[in-house]
Amino acid sequence: MTTTNTPPAPPVLHVDPFTPEVLLDPYPFHQSLREAGPLVWLQSHRIYATGRHVEAQAVLSQWTRFTNAAGAGMADIRKPGNWRPPSVILESDPPQHTQVRGALQKILSPLVVRQWREKFSVRAEAMADELVQRGEFDGMRDASEAFVLSVFPPAVGIEIPTENARAIGDMNFNAIGPNNSLTQASAERAQPYMKWYEDSMQRSAMLPGGFGDLIYQAEDDGALPKGVAANLTRTFLRGGMDTTISGIGAALHALARNPAQWDMLREQPQLAAKAFDEGIRYDAPVQVMFRTTCEGIELGGIQLAPDTKIAAFIGAANRDPRQWENPERFDLRRKSAGHLAFGAGPHVCIGQMIARLEAECLIGALARRCRTLALAGDPVFRPINTLRMIDRLPLRVQPA
Ligand code: HEM
Repeated sequence: MTTTNTPPAPPVLHVDPFTPEVLLDPYPFHQSLREAGPLVWLQSHRIYATGRHVEAQAVLSQWTRFTNAAGAGMADIRKPGNWRPPSVILESDPPQHTQVRGALQKILSPLVVRQWREKFSVRAEAMADELVQRGEFDGMRDASEAFVLSVFPPAVGIEIPTENARAIGDMNFNAIGPNNSLTQASAERAQPYMKWYEDSMQRSAMLPGGFGDLIYQAEDDGALPKGVAANLTRTFLRGGMDTTISGIGAALHALARNPAQWDMLREQPQLAAKAFDEGIRYDAPVQVMFRTTCEGIELGGIQLAPDTKIAAFIGAANRDPRQWENPERFDLRRKSAGHLAFGAGPHVCIGQMIARLEAECLIGALARRCRTLALAGDPVFRPINTLRMIDRLPLRVQPA
């Protein structure tokens, strides 16, 4: 009898997850990714990927095995030709990461976040009054996007026109993925706004009292290394704007499709934050993030060489039937804790309290005013390489 020592090869998938067709309807791809195996070779981009919860969580959280210093996107930013500066917080490992994260955590303390509640809530109540009066509205342009852009950039300390926000956001979340036609087209669309974007991160442009101002003060006090404030403020704005717009949109979409869930929320508006969490489990805003192996390691039974990129498909893991019962069901009674929409491990989203607060204010304000919430037409999605984004969400409400 002969034995071979050939290491097992991963299953191979030929579908390209970053085409508009797949991005507009990612669920069949998610299923084939999960069912092919714990770790899969994506031939279209010559990269490893996982769509299972256990492995995706391990890749995102085990920083001694999977580094962020090679970039949290598909490209290895240590290689020649890299065109963008790494994010000081997201694209670093401990101990550098620990210091920066510690300083930011103070800036985002529960006390500071609580101080924004009143402002967010006043805006949400006024907006909900107006939307209920209109009866029909776009859940993205008139509700989620309008609300987030009116409260979050000012909390960071920046005023950002909608067109600038959309162009820059699309560019950022396309660029985390491959350098394909979506990335190139969105970079071109964002070009006219880039100078404005860079200038608006400078200290002189910050509104006093916002998170950006506090980041610059932390740099002055020595809590942050010199020269990182503009970079961190950019990561803050970039990380918190489109993601929250997407997440509130996902929750409104799911609620509009599930009248019994809306009834439950209407009877208990205090479930608004829960509706948001289940909404982002069900349709994760950030669909995929990347890590790079530190040294030869094994994952899902496959031996990986050092410096190997891996795509962790959060959107697929959040519906992994190995982790969730009836994952395709949007259910407010579910324990959604453990979903990966905010990531996992040392880089888990530092702004999640702010995102939850925004969502709770807007969704709660609508739930207290509307007897019904329903789709008034088909939603239209906007394909972005790494972000699930509804572009248009026609909604109809009836007052309570
Ligand atoms: C629904 C809303 C949001 C979603 C879905 C989301 C998602 C995520 C995810 C998946 C990560 C981890 C990325 C990785 O490990 O590669 C992350 C990290 C981060 N997020 Fe969020 N985010 C949201 C809102 C926010 C907000 C409101 C802010 C700012 C106030 C923010 C700031 C950040 C920052 C600075 C990091 C990097 C943390 C680190 O590297 O230690 N995010 N977010």
